[in-house]
Amino acid sequence: MGHREIGLVGVLGAGTMGAGIAQLCARAGAEVLLCDAAEGALAGGLGQIEASLARAVERGASSEAEVAAVRARIRPASSTAELAGIELAIEAVPEVLELKAGLLAALAELEGEPILASNTSSISIAALAERSGAAPRVLGLHFFNPPTAMPLVELISTPRTDPAAVERARAFAERLGKQVVDVQDGPGFLVNRCARPYYLESLRMLEDGFAEPAQIDRVCVEDGGLPLGPFELMDAIGIDVSLAVTSSMWERSYGEPRWRPSPIQVAQVAAGRLGRKSGGGFYAEGTSWRAAPPVAPGLAAAILDRIVANLVNEAAFALSAGVASGPDLERAMVIGLNHPCGPAEWERRWGRDRIVAILDRLWETEHDPRYRVAPLLRGGGIAAAA
Ligand SMILES: NC(=O)c1ccc[n+]([C@@H]2O[C@H](COP(=O)([O-])OP(=O)(O)OC[C@H]3O[C@@H](n4cnc5c(N)ncnc54)[C@H](O)[C@@H]3O)[C@@H](O)[C@H]2O)c1
Repeated sequence: MGHREIGLVGVLGAGTMGAGIAQLCARAGAEVLLCDAAEGALAGGLGQIEASLARAVERGASSEAEVAAVRARIRPASSTAELAGIELAIEAVPEVLELKAGLLAALAELEGEPILASNTSSISIAALAERSGAAPRVLGLHFFNPPTAMPLVELISTPRTDPAAVERARAFAERLGKQVVDVQDGPGFLVNRCARPYYLESLRMLEDGFAEPAQIDRVCVEDGGLPLGPFELMDAIGIDVSLAVTSSMWERSYGEPRWRPSPIQVAQVAAGRLGRKSGGGFYAEGTSWRAAPPVAPGLAAAILDRIVANLVNEAAFALSAGVASGPDLERAMVIGLNHPCGPAEWERRWGRDRIVAILDRLWETEHDPRYRVAPLLRGGGIAAAA
């Protein structure tokens, strides 16, 4: 069934994500109304877009004429009342349920019944949908930072979302040049959920005195082929942001042991050591694992075993819960996180029996239910199920 192409989009929140999403939509040819409630924030967002467009010209990626056309398609707005006629709203306001729900309820009143998309990282789409008063039109479009460059979008629907709205949102995201994965509403959605063991198992190794951050980071990058080590990644993202995602998942699951936050992160946040943005986190400013000594081969193998086994186990739980299809999960971990391969491929390379044995050994020594093996993994493996 064909749909008319979306011509006018409202983007709510002109911060890091909203400004990038507005630029992306305008680049794809849509007219955009960019709306922010805070004085100065709109100018800040437009400034961010301007700087990004200038860099594109400098790099030779866009011509002056293309950039001028993008700029002309973005118009500022200071209230939802100015968004009359939009066909799609994408909200990227701060991660506060009441704020987002109130905004969606106001947008639901607009004439033309626009699709209402949230870019939330951790709030239940179903909860937002119910509070909006327009549940069939509410869905999640989860972009990654920076939205202009990251190729993945998670498309999250609820049992009440109108399938026509889902297909129209998918067509729009694809028009933005994104690869879209269908994801069930739930803690961490897909990518944030399946990436959790990368951080949490690493923090666990640090808590136990099993290995140091520089050793774990080196092994993950040099032996595992991952783009960044978990500790340098947490420093880049912000330890407070990483802790907030984990805490929200843990709370929403009523205490799933695999998602239990680490006291080390809590202590870092309490001390104001948030990572790069605060001048230091796991690494002091200007330092890196690259200057640290090599890791003994036995320890290196044991570190990577723990990381890989827990990534595969989380993916197995996610697949059994129907969070996404096997191929989407595999694709999302590669294009969303730049992992060298997806969990089914890790399972093939490592061997399912070996992964189960690693987890069983961890259970025997730690007696921590976070190491319980997913029935799907013990039963046949994720590669077989995908
Ligand atoms: N930053 C990331 O890496 C990232 C990645 C994926 C998803 N997200 C999600 O995107 C959303 C926005 O995150 P961000 O980092 O861009 O936040 P931000 O703080 O940079 O920007 C939020 C903007 O929303 C504005 N705002 C607040 N109330 C508003 C209202 N009622 N109407 C219009 N504008 C309003 C604020 O003034 C601010 O400019 C959050 O839900 C976050 O979880 C963030």
